[in-house]
Amino acid sequence: MPFRRKKISIIGAGQVGATCALMAASRDMGDVVLLDRDAGTAKGKALDILQAGAVQLFDGTVRGTIDYADTAGSDVVVVTAGSPRRPGLTRDDLLAINAGVVASCCREIKRSSPEAVVIIVTNPLDAMTFIASRELGFPRQRVLGMAGVLDSARFRSFVAEELQVSVRDVQALVLGGHGGSMVPMPRHCFVGGVPLTQLLAPERIQALVERARLGGDEIVGLLATGSAYYAPAASIVQMAEAVLRNQRRILPCAALLEGEYGVSGLFVGVPCLLGGGGLEKVCEFELDATERAAFEHSVARVRALVDDLSRLGL
Ligand code: APR
Repeated sequence: MPFRRKKISIIGAGQVGATCALMAASRDMGDVVLLDRDAGTAKGKALDILQAGAVQLFDGTVRGTIDYADTAGSDVVVVTAGSPRRPGLTRDDLLAINAGVVASCCREIKRSSPEAVVIIVTNPLDAMTFIASRELGFPRQRVLGMAGVLDSARFRSFVAEELQVSVRDVQALVLGGHGGSMVPMPRHCFVGGVPLTQLLAPERIQALVERARLGGDEIVGLLATGSAYYAPAASIVQMAEAVLRNQRRILPCAALLEGEYGVSGLFVGVPCLLGGGGLEKVCEFELDATERAAFEHSVARVRALVDDLSRLGL
């Protein structure tokens, strides 16, 4: 059988989508398709990325399109389409706008790439992943939300800066919903194998936790015209690469829980084993009383967001 290159399609060629396409192409993860409702944006950015390859020496194809037929048979599809957060506009405000966008994209993905692993990025993430799963009707192995990798990257970078060590040597775990309702786990954060709790005072850890929790808002406030995209794109690419290269990475992702951690029927951030089939396993571990309380609080916020969807008839 001839060797078939992997295919990754990115829906939404805005800041997050285009940066993700550049990173995926430069890591030679497969053929990249960048789709947007605006043809000029999709085609222009794809062409620009392709030409970057001539300098940075990556070979794959990058195609811009408005037509889902060009995404057909994708191995991974990433959904970034929608409106980004803006100052004064909370994630929850975006619910109604982005629910419609994500649902329409997923109807197309279901037709064009019925075997794909779909990674949802559009915010509010926990609700959008729920909408996507409903529209796609795919098994839970193939619908994931990108949140935990980004949230833990933010926490790790603050820890590395504080301790003046390489971020490579900082491992962290977050659970729960995205952003404000995420649950960092300082007890499971290690720096060069040493528990963070032995290296920093509890109040310093708490300050870094809070900064990570509000990490997206800090960037929205600084940019004033949009939201973060470099770290989100890098986080998407890490998840997509784990699937496309069957890496069997353990990464925090939003996954549909079926009884794990005592939760059913909701997408919540948990450590996931990611391989060629998408979500190969939800990794469960013991939470202490404080962690359990914070996790349950976060789950309640995710549930409230999903209840808002039905209240709004979405
Ligand atoms: N189909 C295809 N593309 C769409 C659609 C649609 N139905 N609706 C919107 N888009 C496209 C827009 O044309 C735009 O190019 O989605 C893109 C969104 O890009 P940006 O506005 O630059 O937003 P971005 O910063 O990339 O954020 C996208 O990711 O992290 C999340 O909160 C963020 O929900 C937001 C999403």
